[in-house]
Amino acid sequence: MVKAESYHVPVMLSETLAGLSVKADGRYLDTTAGGGGHCAAILDQLGESGQLLAIDRDDDALTVLRTRFSDDKRVSIHKLNFGDIGNDETVQSMKPFDGILFDLGVSSHQIDDSARGFSFMKPGPLDMRMDRSQKTTAAEVVNEYDEANLIRVLKEFGEEPRARRVAQEMIKHRPFEETSALVEILEPLADPRDRLRILARVFQALRIEVNDELDAIDRALAASYELLNPGGKLVVLSYHSLEDRKTKRFMRRMEGDSKGRYIPTPGFAEKVVMMKAVPRKAITASRSEIESNPRARSARLRIAERVG
Ligand SMILES: C[S@@+](CC[C@H](N)C(=O)[O-])C[C@H]1O[C@@H](n2cnc3c(N)ncnc32)[C@H](O)[C@@H]1O
Repeated sequence: MVKAESYHVPVMLSETLAGLSVKADGRYLDTTAGGGGHCAAILDQLGESGQLLAIDRDDDALTVLRTRFSDDKRVSIHKLNFGDIGNDETVQSMKPFDGILFDLGVSSHQIDDSARGFSFMKPGPLDMRMDRSQKTTAAEVVNEYDEANLIRVLKEFGEEPRARRVAQEMIKHRPFEETSALVEILEPLADPRDRLRILARVFQALRIEVNDELDAIDRALAASYELLNPGGKLVVLSYHSLEDRKTKRFMRRMEGDSKGRYIPTPGFAEKVVMMKAVPRKAITASRSEIESNPRARSARLRIAERVG
């Protein structure tokens, strides 16, 4: 049985709550509810008439959330890829929201459970699916993609400088079933000081490809404006530069910055202030939080408010 206490330690909890500025009678959407740490903190500030819609695409998270919040009538729990919030009936029926939270990436539970195959530290099957009802696994990517496609994944999603070499080694040694077999061929490709970094880049790339993570972020951010009340808050916690760059560009674009290269949805005029980033820069975790939770080290928190 998956336990809420050990599932995930929520990152930048007080900063996230301050960003959402929870109103007692407000309506909130947690798009990455995980073990419910952020949800519980939001609920602490919500009154009886407040509402929280908690979403995740991982069934383990949904099991924990259902157990943790089963007695709380203010909470609705819903399995969904947040990329689909723009056209999901449940989400649409609860809008407008006073705050939407994205705590991107994987949970500690997903990383720690070797059977999920997310970690290069533990042997396990090459799986990496957040939603285990989906077909594509990491094994399929590693064993079946052609060289050009593997290079694309490693470059775009892992920012791996030796993408071609890594792809060629993978093709030479496949098929792979276990994470440990992949680790074995990757390790000699880097000098010992860079060993962990190459593993982190390749595993990140595979995970993003398997779960189509960046496309889901694009679609979800684009949908968030329309789901928010005027004055409502969009709060995004990212853990690597690809996620944070997307969030930053989206917020700039919504501020009417013509340099923002990201186009949210067709028909949105440029130079119109639709959201305002508050503050303009990303917030990082305090030194004491990083000491007690190393996962917070890479966290970047961005907050924007719907203006019109
Ligand atoms: C960093 S954890 C969130 C932890 C949570 N804030 C807490 O306090 O426990 C990220 C969660 O988002 C989920 N997730 C990632 N991408 C998703 C997506 N596209 N749609 C829905 N859930 C997603 C993962 O399954 C994971 O449970």
